Amino acid sequence: PMLEQCYNMLDFEAVAKKTMKKGAWGYYSSAADDEITLRENHEAFHRIWFRPRILVDVEEVDFSTTMLGTKVDVPFYVTATALGKLGHPEGEVCLTRAAKKHNVVQMIPTLASCSFDEIMDAAEGDQVQWMQLYVNRDRAITKRIIEHAEKRCCKALFITVDAPQLGRREKDMRSKFTDPGTNVQSGQQTDNSQGAARAISSFIDPALSWKDIPWFQSVTKMPILLKGVQRVEDVLKAIEVGVQGVVLSNHGGRQLEFARSGIEILAETMPVLRELGLENKIEIYIDGGVRRGTDILKALCLGAKGVGIGRPFLYAMSAYGFEGVDRAMALLKDEMEMNMRLIGCTSVDQLNPSLVDVRNLGSH
Ligand code: FNR
Repeated sequence: PMLEQCYNMLDFEAVAKKTMKKGAWGYYSSAADDEITLRENHEAFHRIWFRPRILVDVEEVDFSTTMLGTKVDVPFYVTATALGKLGHPEGEVCLTRAAKKHNVVQMIPTLASCSFDEIMDAAEGDQVQWMQLYVNRDRAITKRIIEHAEKRCCKALFITVDAPQLGRREKDMRSKFTDPGTNVQSGQQTDNSQGAARAISSFIDPALSWKDIPWFQSVTKMPILLKGVQRVEDVLKAIEVGVQGVVLSNHGGRQLEFARSGIEILAETMPVLRELGLENKIEIYIDGGVRRGTDILKALCLGAKGVGIGRPFLYAMSAYGFEGVDRAMALLKDEMEMNMRLIGCTSVDQLNPSLVDVRNLGSH
């Protein structure tokens, strides 16, 4: 199909499924075990309904916002996804260029196919980039990565905390994985028989714990966020140890099967933070299953500062390269703009919990 025939994120997924190499499709689309959390991520949004306001002047709609103190044009960001060159020969820089065009933040994965510097070089001017970190057993390597990211003006460090071991993804394990040139850190011989995920992740330190957080704070001035938080108690602990934010996420359903969706945890977390007067002490992000402008608006209504999007941009990139990601971002903006009007809001700060009905969210 032609690019112009893609009208939403699911259309890109359908094209990608038909056109991508089997191994690449297997790595991108796969998730843990029976992929129940994967499906739940998307379906959880379907249990939230709007309570729109009427007769509000919505001629001018503006969905710009701030994330970690930086002004951005849209409240979604490109989250970190490894191995960009599996989907497209240019890899992550496709995402970088589209993000530039739309003033969208990009989170750079530790396991990018392009080198970190190639991605930073593709970014222009004041384009905002964040760094996703898998923590190496060898902290000297991790320290070098962090210092280099800061030197190249990365604006934040997202430490992935839901992957002490990379998940079992059977679709990925079944397909024969061939490495298109990853900047793997371990230096070890990789064993491809268990799929891409396991081949590239043996360096990750499973001993990482809360006790390590002060060390990260001592080696960087970048804001530190924890990516992959699953319960309100850990959000409170994150505030206590003084990190700047968390991403409520289950890694796109790729890690713990039967982990709950970010949006559901968000709905549970924000009332607790408000009750304790802590809602301004930390920035809360979510990712997982976001496919529509309405999904983004629901998350913002419930208190998310921003929303990460993974697979849809990978699929758009794999199917159509830069133009695909460009169109995917434009479509999401279009969906958001129209639905902001339909719920009677003209700016992000007007989005609030009274605009959504979450009575069915936790009880499906
Ligand atoms: C990921 N994700 C991920 N997260 C991370 O912290 N480091 C990583 O290297 C990767 N790699 C990765 C690869 C692929 C192919 C996918 C699909 C996902 C998880 C990612 O950041 C995010 O949590 C999910 O992708 C969000 O879910 P959706 O938008 O894909 O549904």
